[in-house]
Amino acid sequence: MITVSVIKADVGGVPGHSRVHPELEEIARNNLKKEKDLIDFYVTHCGDDLELIMTHKEGVDSEKIHGIAWDTFEKATKKAKELKLYGAGQDLLSDAFSGNIRGLGPGIAEMEFTERKGEPLVVFMMDKTEPGAFNLPVYRMFADPFCTAGLVIDPNMHNGFRFEVWDIKEHKRVFMNTPEEMYDLLALIGAKSRYVIKRVYPKKGKLPENEPVAVISTEKLYQIAGEYVGKDDPCGIVRAQSGLPALGEVLEPFAIPFLVSGWMRGSHNGPLMPVSLKDAKCTRFDGPPRVAALGFQIANGKLVGGIDLFDDPAFDIARRKAQEIADYMRRHGPFEPHRLPLEEMEYTTLPKVLEKLKDRFEVVK
Ligand code: F6R
Ligand code: MG
Ligand code: MG
Repeated sequence: MITVSVIKADVGGVPGHSRVHPELEEIARNNLKKEKDLIDFYVTHCGDDLELIMTHKEGVDSEKIHGIAWDTFEKATKKAKELKLYGAGQDLLSDAFSGNIRGLGPGIAEMEFTERKGEPLVVFMMDKTEPGAFNLPVYRMFADPFCTAGLVIDPNMHNGFRFEVWDIKEHKRVFMNTPEEMYDLLALIGAKSRYVIKRVYPKKGKLPENEPVAVISTEKLYQIAGEYVGKDDPCGIVRAQSGLPALGEVLEPFAIPFLVSGWMRGSHNGPLMPVSLKDAKCTRFDGPPRVAALGFQIANGKLVGGIDLFDDPAFDIARRKAQEIADYMRRHGPFEPHRLPLEEMEYTTLPKVLEKLKDRFEVVK
């Protein structure tokens, strides 16, 4: 068994919330290099999020691995403070690590599985949006026959998949099968700020039923800290091919820049733009929200590749459309549905405005 852990945190941006400083990535590389417990690692960024991709044999929720990530973020934070990067250390919500990084601020997607003869795997990283942004594309990869041809024509996929969905407000989860429960599943995950896909499993067939084939980070920073401390920009891992969606079926959902919540001040809807790593920085209105994808073959735990999958003219139309949608949405200014509904905004002045006006409100008869 092999474990892939993607752990990410925003420990400071340059300038503002736009991207990670290259020196922080260098510090992370140097720190991970000396860790004997890692088989391999890859350090990168998406916007202002520092992303650590690590492989090892320690399983998920390992104190050792989480400790390594925490130590790396602390060292990067030290540098971020020296350089006075914006929001230095913002995602490290605690001063002390006590065994598990969950609940301390960083986002985590990790899974343990038996490495196949050929093991293609994609790491997705999103900035300026929330975990629910993965609902639509992951649903389409594993359950939409108009996206994934294999669901219809590959005998190894024809049975469908099993989804683990979390209610992130009530802290509960439910397992649902597709295609049988497709409509029920959609009834939940269409409400993407509340119900999020956490993992996908294969059904009975060639692959072990208890080993995930996709996993998404679902940390909600505002629930951890009880107040707004930054956007919970998510990451995810998806395995591909041989009875799973092909690489191209995994990427296909991103050919449409669907709308996600986040963007400016975590309080706006906007298109998710697929970008190469060189464009993984947020600019216009602190966005638009972006997704980058790195592809690997896993070889005895080694991360072979690191292929920048959206660095491809095949996604140019999606990018152009994202810019058009960004323009269109921006024209709405402070109006919904560009601005999020009241209960989902991360910044609000409404209580103060209401307080100021309270004596001027008259009853309408
Ligand atoms: C969104 C984000 C940014 C900030 C915005 C204001 O996730 O990180 O859009 O919310 O730049 O930031 P402050 O309040 O730090 O000036
Ligand atoms: Mg930030
Ligand atoms: Mg971010």
